[in-house]
Amino acid sequence: MNQEIKEILALLDQDLNQSTTLEKLRQVELTYLGKKGKLNQIFDKQTKEEKAKQGRVLNQAIQEAAQKIKDKSNSIIDQEANQKFDVTIPGILPPIGHLHLVTQAIKEISDIFEKIGFIRRRYPEIDTDWYAAEGLNIPKDHPARDDQETFYVSDNVVLTPHTSNGQLREMELVKKPPIKMINIGKTYRRQIDASHVPMFHQFEGLIIDKGINVTHLIGITNYFFQNYFGPDRKARLRPHHFQFTEPSFEIDISCGMCAGTGVLENGEKCRLCKSGWLELGGAGMVHPNVLKNGGLDPKKYSGFAFGWGVERVLTMKSNLNLGDLRNLYSTDLRILNQF
Ligand code: DAH
Repeated sequence: MNQEIKEILALLDQDLNQSTTLEKLRQVELTYLGKKGKLNQIFDKQTKEEKAKQGRVLNQAIQEAAQKIKDKSNSIIDQEANQKFDVTIPGILPPIGHLHLVTQAIKEISDIFEKIGFIRRRYPEIDTDWYAAEGLNIPKDHPARDDQETFYVSDNVVLTPHTSNGQLREMELVKKPPIKMINIGKTYRRQIDASHVPMFHQFEGLIIDKGINVTHLIGITNYFFQNYFGPDRKARLRPHHFQFTEPSFEIDISCGMCAGTGVLENGEKCRLCKSGWLELGGAGMVHPNVLKNGGLDPKKYSGFAFGWGVERVLTMKSNLNLGDLRNLYSTDLRILNQF
């Protein structure tokens, strides 16, 4: 090999030894292999005859130099990677999410009812007027329809304003009692303010069998209250009116702050309930017309139903003061991360 080439390769070795970063290496590469680099300069200087004679040698030298630079580059990359991997640095915990508050409540509610043999159901959120109203003994043009500020999809199809649409569907599905269902689902009403959202959730219980009466309703309600809210909570029934039940009730729950007395331990009036009771939701004995519409004989079977708000029990349970119920659905992580 030509002496000059040998010297250049020796210099390259020195320079490579001193290159500790990829930037420096890039400079070295330009110095030796660039268009105006040391090796190509030799080529430029040569005469035609010299080129013919030494062309191969020079090309080999160029290849050798390129290989050395590549090897060095790989070793720098390896070194940098090794330096960056410090096993002693504490790891970064990935953020762990959790189920939404309402989803947690739904799970808890269905677990409580499933324990005593209720079957969890899901019936359509978009349903016909028959299942959502007419079949539940709420005739067209009846003022009771005003209670439910329903969203109509078409003349005959609605976004279900309550989970009671599941009642007739359950009777049609099971056909022969006993029926013991808990239908939990989304419900929709034309309402929006600090304590109402247009989409919310209800859970609808329905038991139908021979000989079902109001005491069963009271028993199941107390069971739910004690398991969901706490062992000291009790139910109270107040007469009410719903088209699809007879008799109908509003169910109250004894206040957790004052133990249902309306008076706090220090003698002051309870500010949460004022009277010892908090209103929870509606219930009643399934109306004979509804049983008939579901294909059941009201002389043979009786049943009770209740329909309560998931958001309502959730906020009542922990005296959760969200300020504005809409916060639940704002998807603002600062709110959701607190739970
Ligand atoms: N569907 C009623 C509502 O949303 C609540 C209700 C009342 C459901 C009485 C029932 C019942 O099953 O028996 O206002």
